Amino acid sequence: MTRTKVIAGNWKMNCSLEQSQALVTEIRGMVRDERNNDSEIVLCPTYLALPSACKLVQGSSLFIGAQNCHSETNGAYTGEVSAEMLNHLGVSHVIIGHSERREYQNETNAFLKEKVISAIKNNLVSIFCLGESLEQRESGQLWDVLSRQLSESLLDTSVTAKNLIIAYEPIWAIGTGVTASAAQAQEVHSFIRNWVAQHFSVEMAEETRILYGGSMKPDNAEELLSQIDIDGGLIGGASLKPRDFVNIHKLAK
Ligand code: PGA
Repeated sequence: MTRTKVIAGNWKMNCSLEQSQALVTEIRGMVRDERNNDSEIVLCPTYLALPSACKLVQGSSLFIGAQNCHSETNGAYTGEVSAEMLNHLGVSHVIIGHSERREYQNETNAFLKEKVISAIKNNLVSIFCLGESLEQRESGQLWDVLSRQLSESLLDTSVTAKNLIIAYEPIWAIGTGVTASAAQAQEVHSFIRNWVAQHFSVEMAEETRILYGGSMKPDNAEELLSQIDIDGGLIGGASLKPRDFVNIHKLAK
């Protein structure tokens, strides 16, 4: 079974509207000249840039994702944006459960599950993030932490290999320049795939894309992306540099 790889750029709270438009346009132009590369690209700018980003990728192979959504459809949730609103805009993907939101917005596994359910209802592909802190890894809690994140957010939802992409992002590797070794990442990805097989089905496990995120750059991407269970990357810092981002995409085949 070959899984189409996915390279997603998480722009976080970076780029003005104009800068975002320029970045989308530049990446679109660079990718147009790539040959024989079916791997998917998802760009996740801030909410402000989503409407124009959706227009700028029309007619191309690029997808636009949001960095977050709320679990409710509408109502008194000041500052929030719903999955339905994103879908109406033409957004196709949404990052759910990024560790920065888990930490700074106190998002719990249970709340993230509500978001996943809402994303599915509104035809968005969830890029569901999970990962452990260094302390959790060093104290032997890695598998427990990951199992809990998976169980409490994904069980009893209608996730499928089509509406779910999983992103393993060890917190200690995000924005730090420290990357998980290919062996460390592969070990976790294989664990996640087995978890999906046990709790959903072997077929779904074989088809579900599992991305690695955490200081992925052109010089470490090749080894990471060559691991059997690594189906792409969720890229932060390097996604703001169009040449680096597209070079990572070129390695994803
Ligand atoms: P990084 O971020 O590539 O800058 O480490 C990845 C992420 O947070 O998704």
